[in-house]
Amino acid sequence: MAIENKKHEALPLRDRFGRKLNSLRISVTQKCNLQCFYCHREGEAASNNEMTKEEIVKIAKIACELGMKKVKLTGGEPLLRDDLPEIVSEIAEYADEVSLTTNGVLLEEYAQSLFNAGLKRVNVSLPSLISRRFKKITKKDQVQQAKNGIKAAVQSHLHPVKINMVMLKGINVDEVPKAIDFAQEVGAVLQLIEFEPIQPENYVHWKKFHYDPVSIENWLKKKAISIQENPLHKRRRYTLEKNGDPVSVEVVQPMHNSIFCQNCTRLRVTSDGKLKPCLLRNDNLVDILSLVRQDANSNELKEAFRKAAMLREPYWKGRNGRYDQLSSGSGE
Ligand code: 5AD
Repeated sequence: MAIENKKHEALPLRDRFGRKLNSLRISVTQKCNLQCFYCHREGEAASNNEMTKEEIVKIAKIACELGMKKVKLTGGEPLLRDDLPEIVSEIAEYADEVSLTTNGVLLEEYAQSLFNAGLKRVNVSLPSLISRRFKKITKKDQVQQAKNGIKAAVQSHLHPVKINMVMLKGINVDEVPKAIDFAQEVGAVLQLIEFEPIQPENYVHWKKFHYDPVSIENWLKKKAISIQENPLHKRRRYTLEKNGDPVSVEVVQPMHNSIFCQNCTRLRVTSDGKLKPCLLRNDNLVDILSLVRQDANSNELKEAFRKAAMLREPYWKGRNGRYDQLSSGSGE
């Protein structure tokens, strides 16, 4: 029974720095229908060893039993998997919240069935609202499909719908006011994300297009009617008001940000089944898919999670290159 399965045996895992592990971010495929030049591809090395639905669900179930009750599905583009609604509904039996990150191109078609399958919320990448720019960034002329996907998600009661806009100097920074208007008009939250160079090929673009969101934040601070904090990474959320209606803008500023890392409560799973303790590193992966394929029992799988938790380490350190040991876990 679903209710039985929602029981969690353990308190959230904690790492050596006192950080709770609350959420699991699973890449379900490396395939993508866009080719965004800035894409960090979730920090994964190229692979063609995609997990099956059963393997994904098994890993998610173990994570839920260990207290990681928020599960986000990402890619590549997750909607390229035909079995995504089934993956969502099966994980939703164990998790408190299943969410999705998508480029939105196929979302109009799938939003309602994903909601019906148990999906709670969705993040949609939208690097530009202008078709010429969207095409330059993604190599595809599909901005309208992405916008329609966002609207369909809101109408399907996926909530909140967050629009992910990676800030690119000289390309889309001037669009922020229009993106705020669009978010307000459709009933979404806007997330402004700092460009991170994760893949080797990101560096050349990063040098040219990296934009420090600090001046946008100062502008938002002046305009905001209230400021909140998302416990995850302590991301700041600014609520603005336009014509009497509120709209929220969250700023994701990970670079050189020790507070971001101190409040990271996430563990990743690569599309080829490796537990990945940090987006920025590939030297501390724990292969869980091989264990699943060898029919390991749940204790052995939990052991792999504990090992990955112990390998977690804040990437950006505090002052003097040190990180502060947290006395209690923070971040939700
Ligand atoms: N830097 C920051 N964010 C990125 N994303 C993709 N590549 C990068 C990058 N290099 C974000 C996109 C997408 C999410 C999965 O990650 O906004 O929505």
